[in-house]
Amino acid sequence: MSPKPIRKAVFPVAGLGTRFLPATKVVPKELLPVVDRPLIQYAVDEAREAGIEQMIFVTGRGKTGIVEHFDIAFELEQTMSERGKDLSVLECTRATPGDVIAVRQQVPLGLGHAIWCARAIVGDEPFAIFLPDELMVAREGGTGCMKQMVEAYNDVGGNLISVLEVPMEQVSSYGVIDPGKTDGALTEVLGLVEKPPVDEAPSNKIVSGRYILQPEVMRVLENQGKGAGGEIQLTDAMAKMIGQQPFHAVTFDGARYDCGSKVGFVEATLAIALSRPDMGADVRAIALDLLK
Ligand code: UTP
Repeated sequence: MSPKPIRKAVFPVAGLGTRFLPATKVVPKELLPVVDRPLIQYAVDEAREAGIEQMIFVTGRGKTGIVEHFDIAFELEQTMSERGKDLSVLECTRATPGDVIAVRQQVPLGLGHAIWCARAIVGDEPFAIFLPDELMVAREGGTGCMKQMVEAYNDVGGNLISVLEVPMEQVSSYGVIDPGKTDGALTEVLGLVEKPPVDEAPSNKIVSGRYILQPEVMRVLENQGKGAGGEIQLTDAMAKMIGQQPFHAVTFDGARYDCGSKVGFVEATLAIALSRPDMGADVRAIALDLLK
C-alpha cells in the first residue's frame, strides 16, 4: 500500500534574517531576489513540481510581503495589459485560490517552534517542510530535491530528510545524521544531532533544508524544551521519532546553495545567472573580466 500523499508544505519564514542586515530590516530574507525571482518563489516552484498543493507560510512581523507575492496584483496586471506587456512572467506567482495559508509565529523561538505553529493547518497528514534560504537547484534535465524525496517516500514511507556531505570541520554549524545502511541515494538515519562539536559528530552528512515528516512530530514539538542556541529545535524533535517510525535521508542529486549566508547567496546568484540562456554568456564575460 502506498503511503498517504504529501499535499501540504510548511515554509517557516519567521526568522529575523540578522545575517543580511541592513537588507532585511524591511524586506524579508525570503523576498531577496536571486537574479529575478525571490528565494520563496524557487521553493514554491520546487513544491509544485513535487505535486504539493497547499503552501503554508509561518510568518512573523514584517513578512506579509511573502503572502502578497502570491496574490494577484490587479492594478499591475491591468496597467501591463493596457501597455501590451507580457503577463506570463507573473504566472508562477498566481496561487490557486485557498492554497496559500499564513499562520503567525509571534516570537521567533526557533525552527521547531515555527513548524509547531502550523499544526492546526497540517492536521493529521504527512507534510513537507522547505527552508527557502536553502536554494536547491536540479541538474539540467533532472528533477528538484522535493520531487526526488517524494519518489523515495512513495517507496519507504515514514520520515525523510535531505542531506549533503560537507567537510568535517564545517559540521558544527548544522544538524548532522548518524547514518545506517545506504542504498543508492537513500540512507537509513539512526540518530540526529544539532550543531555537534567536530569530534563528537557522527558523520559529515548534514541536514539540508527539506523534510517530509509524519504529523506525530507536532506532538513531540508540543512538549519540547529549548535545545542548541536556546531555540526549540526541529532536529531534537525528529531525533525522538527515530526508532518509532521509518527515518531515511536522501542525498539530493543537484546543487544546494546556502542563501542564508552572504557568500552562499552570491554563489547562487552567479550559478543561476551563468546557467540562464538569456544572460549566461554576458555574465561569463563580465566575471572573466572582473577576475583579470
Ligand atoms: P535561520 O537559522 O537561517 O535564521 O533560520 P534566520 O532568522 O532566518 O536568519 P539569521 O541567522 O538571523 O540571519 C532557518 C529557517 O527557519 C526559519 C527562518 O525563517 C529560516 O527559514 N525560522 C527560524 C523561523 O521561522 N522561526 C524561528 O524562530 C527561527
